[in-house]
Amino acid sequence: MKAFEEVSIGNLKLRNRFVMAPMCMKMATEDGKIQQFHYTHYQSRGYGGVGLIVLEATAIEPRGRITDRDLGIWNDSYVDGFKPFVKAVHETGAKIGIQLAHAGRKSRVPESTPVAPSAIVYDEDYEEPKALRPVQIQMMKSKFMQAARRAKEAGFDFIEIHAAHGYLINEFLSPLTNVRKDKYGGSFENRLRFLKEIIESIKTQWDGALGVRLSCEEYAEDGNHIDDYEKIADAIKDEVDVINVSSGGVVDVPIPSEPGYQVGFSESIRAHGIKTMGGGLINTEKQIKDIFDHEQADFIYLGRKLLKNPNFILEMASKAGQTELIPEAYKRAFK
Ligand SMILES: Cc1cc2nc3c(=O)[nH]c(=O)nc-3n(C[C@H](O)[C@H](O)[C@H](O)COP(=O)(O)O)c2cc1C
Repeated sequence: MKAFEEVSIGNLKLRNRFVMAPMCMKMATEDGKIQQFHYTHYQSRGYGGVGLIVLEATAIEPRGRITDRDLGIWNDSYVDGFKPFVKAVHETGAKIGIQLAHAGRKSRVPESTPVAPSAIVYDEDYEEPKALRPVQIQMMKSKFMQAARRAKEAGFDFIEIHAAHGYLINEFLSPLTNVRKDKYGGSFENRLRFLKEIIESIKTQWDGALGVRLSCEEYAEDGNHIDDYEKIADAIKDEVDVINVSSGGVVDVPIPSEPGYQVGFSESIRAHGIKTMGGGLINTEKQIKDIFDHEQADFIYLGRKLLKNPNFILEMASKAGQTELIPEAYKRAFK
């Protein structure tokens, strides 16, 4: 089964094509530090056969968290917390990436005002954000860069830039949330500039495998659509190793979610000559086989399925005769 082939993202070798999707667990300390829960949670999925775990959204500054129980990596004191965690995940045979994130106008951390490209509120339950001043944009890039340096020091194998789901970078990309009049707003090229410059800044510190997560459909008439994201993919494909294809979250509109609803977007992006991670409501072996048979993605990410059943991949591996993936200690369960 193609899903179990060894494969690489840039210079990173993975034991298979399964990715654990980044999922905020809201289990960090109030200052964004890692807890025992994270060891148990991520190690279980590592022992469960995942090739690459993408750690949940990890904020590059305190007001970049979605909630005050999200993880953070905003100063050097966080590195020592991550080091033993990364080592613990490696013991399972999985590789581990970190998703560097800023929640932008969707941050709901007490006592901090959210920031965004423009002062446009998400909806009535959110606070109106402050538009970033040009100097603050430069500082933000530097915060992404410092976070990447820390991720390297901590031993992470992969960085994913979170540019999806209506968070800060996505807010710059979308005409719905970015009405700036300077070089970071207006034209397509201007809206893309923030993401491009973040990629550049990160690469001054990070020479490992690098990915970007994009919401490749905004489901709103005046927003970006898949053809806009194909152009974005063209513009960044020589700078990053993979695009993690998601959708939605920019504005509060219904998402037509049904099994495999985003797989077509992954296929469209992949046709531009960049590796993709595809997923979204992937729950069955048949869906996985079809995606690889039709070359719609290079990797499949699994989110909620792995929350429900950390050993879903092992069950598939057992059926496919890929027993080397099953930890020795668990082999008797799969006879
Ligand atoms: C509890 C939960 C937390 C999530 N947190 C994040 C996150 O931190 N970063 C992100 O990019 N996506 C996040 N997502 C979206 C998932 O990564 C994934 O794209 C989505 O759940 C669809 O995949 P699935 O149907 O396999 O769960 C989250 C989803 C869930 C269910």
